Amino acid sequence: MPVTIKKTAAERDGMREAGRLAAQVLDMIGEHVQPGVSTEELDSICHRYITKTLEAVPAPLNYRGFPKSICTSVNHVVCHGIPGERKLKKGDIVNIDITVIKDGWHGDTSRMFYVGEPTVIGRRVSEVAHEAMRIGIDMVAPGVRLGDIGHAIQAWVEAQNCAVVREYCGHGIGREFHEDPQVLHYGKPGTGLELLPGMTFTIEPMVNAGKRQVRLLPDNWTVVTKDHSLSAQWEHTILVTEDGHEVLTLGASGQV
Ligand code: MF3
Ligand code: CO
Ligand code: CO
Repeated sequence: MPVTIKKTAAERDGMREAGRLAAQVLDMIGEHVQPGVSTEELDSICHRYITKTLEAVPAPLNYRGFPKSICTSVNHVVCHGIPGERKLKKGDIVNIDITVIKDGWHGDTSRMFYVGEPTVIGRRVSEVAHEAMRIGIDMVAPGVRLGDIGHAIQAWVEAQNCAVVREYCGHGIGREFHEDPQVLHYGKPGTGLELLPGMTFTIEPMVNAGKRQVRLLPDNWTVVTKDHSLSAQWEHTILVTEDGHEVLTLGASGQV
């Protein structure tokens, strides 16, 4: 699949709106992340909000057979956790990953939430993953290559004695949920695709507190750390502009 370039003002506005709505879901769900709530309750709150309030479509639902509207990845779950009966408890860390479709355009973003007070390691892996994403986003501009970005993310994470998951990556996004290019969170400077104005893609590093290896559970979706160490992830959708970038999925705080 070729890398799609959003050149027209209307295409960029479509992506801006989808991104804004996805972030709004994360802003909304924060107060519901409390001890005792089940991940399927969080899913149904988001489903209702996305469809009724935002009049948008939850992209994960039925995507390649995914059964729910959001992903909820708790503690040693790396990504693609399926909401279910499991109730959150104090000290858990949970990634909530939201993708909405509005007027045919996709917006994809995720954040970590603490359930009550996190453990020292829980807070640390979440903060390392957040900074990894921020470092990558800061570099986005025309002429920069994807390998430059992957390398910088990897260097930061490994300097913190954490590990970058290799099996899953960021991705182009637009009319499709997952488009080219693949945005690896590791790599070599001076390699990979050169960014051009109008490209839209996600940066979504998955960071493990232990080793980088992962395992897919028999449900064929849930990805966990092989060593059961905690894992964290943050994600934004980014537009490459003529002179830098725009983060399309900022919430009301305006902070990355
Ligand atoms: N939102 C995830 C991503 O960041 C993809 C989830 S696929 C699903 O790319 F089917 F699990 F929803
Ligand atoms: Co994504
Ligand atoms: Co996502």
